[in-house]
Amino acid sequence: MAAKCIIFLDSFAEDPSTITVDKDSSLPSQEERKFVVLKEKVPPIGDGFGKVEVGLRKEDYIERPRKLQVEEIIRRKGPYTSSQKMLLVGEGDFSFSACLAVSFGTAANMVSTSLDSTEFLFKNYKQAMGNILQLKTRGCTVMHEVDATQMASCHSLNAIKFDRIIFNFPHAGFFVQDVPRDFHIRKHQKLITEFLKNAKKMIAADGQIHITHKTNGFFQEWAIEMLAANEGLRLIEAFHFNHKDYEGYSTKYGFGGDRFFNCNPSKTYIWASAW
Ligand SMILES: C[S@@+](CC[C@H](N)C(=O)[O-])C[C@H]1O[C@@H](n2cnc3c(N)ncnc32)[C@H](O)[C@@H]1O
Repeated sequence: MAAKCIIFLDSFAEDPSTITVDKDSSLPSQEERKFVVLKEKVPPIGDGFGKVEVGLRKEDYIERPRKLQVEEIIRRKGPYTSSQKMLLVGEGDFSFSACLAVSFGTAANMVSTSLDSTEFLFKNYKQAMGNILQLKTRGCTVMHEVDATQMASCHSLNAIKFDRIIFNFPHAGFFVQDVPRDFHIRKHQKLITEFLKNAKKMIAADGQIHITHKTNGFFQEWAIEMLAANEGLRLIEAFHFNHKDYEGYSTKYGFGGDRFFNCNPSKTYIWASAW
């Protein structure tokens, strides 16, 4: 017979009242179950505290009122999960963040930011406002005009230690063409170096910094692995990035216009602190 459990409903899903959990059933591969011990006093059944009781016997409450096991469903998308405290910077039309939020069923674990102002987003990206609404309704903190090269001194961000800090396709902008190639490269490298310096101060002890970056031609010359090594970061892995894994994600050039860019070939680089 299937065992029964309690789940916290306010963590997941648009309509929590529809969730039922059967321990014997297998979950889709994108989901995991994590057992956590409920440390607070468990209120009585049906007290309106946002919990639903599914078939627990009364004796369970009496015998171990502070140690009931609860199940948390963790949803996964690529290397990201709904249990990670995530900071996304340099978002374009917020479609990457929105994809994660929809997959997780919640965005309460996410802070998603753009360098661009709301006015810029509204004017340039057809989907931006819809994506931001998706995020906010799922509990995401959305911020604009956040400079990834100075974010560690931003009061509303520096009080948090993040499990993941993510910058997809960092790019410092387009500069007049007759300026030497080296000048362009140095601008992009400065953006990445300053981002890494800030992100390093903001990750949790076992946190990670992720950059997804194109790996061909000009982009290779940015030498981002070397930049991270210079900052004392340890490369954990780098793997091929397939944007089709993220439904609805539309890469943006970032400096006007709604066109998406071809992000192939690219890789996601994952770093941790060296210690
Ligand atoms: C090529 S676009 C990529 C946009 C988005 N991440 C995506 O994947 O579609 C580069 C982005 O970097 C952002 N950016 C440039 N300098 C930045 C900075 N100092 N802080 C935060 N974002 C920055 C731009 O606003 C732009 O949206």
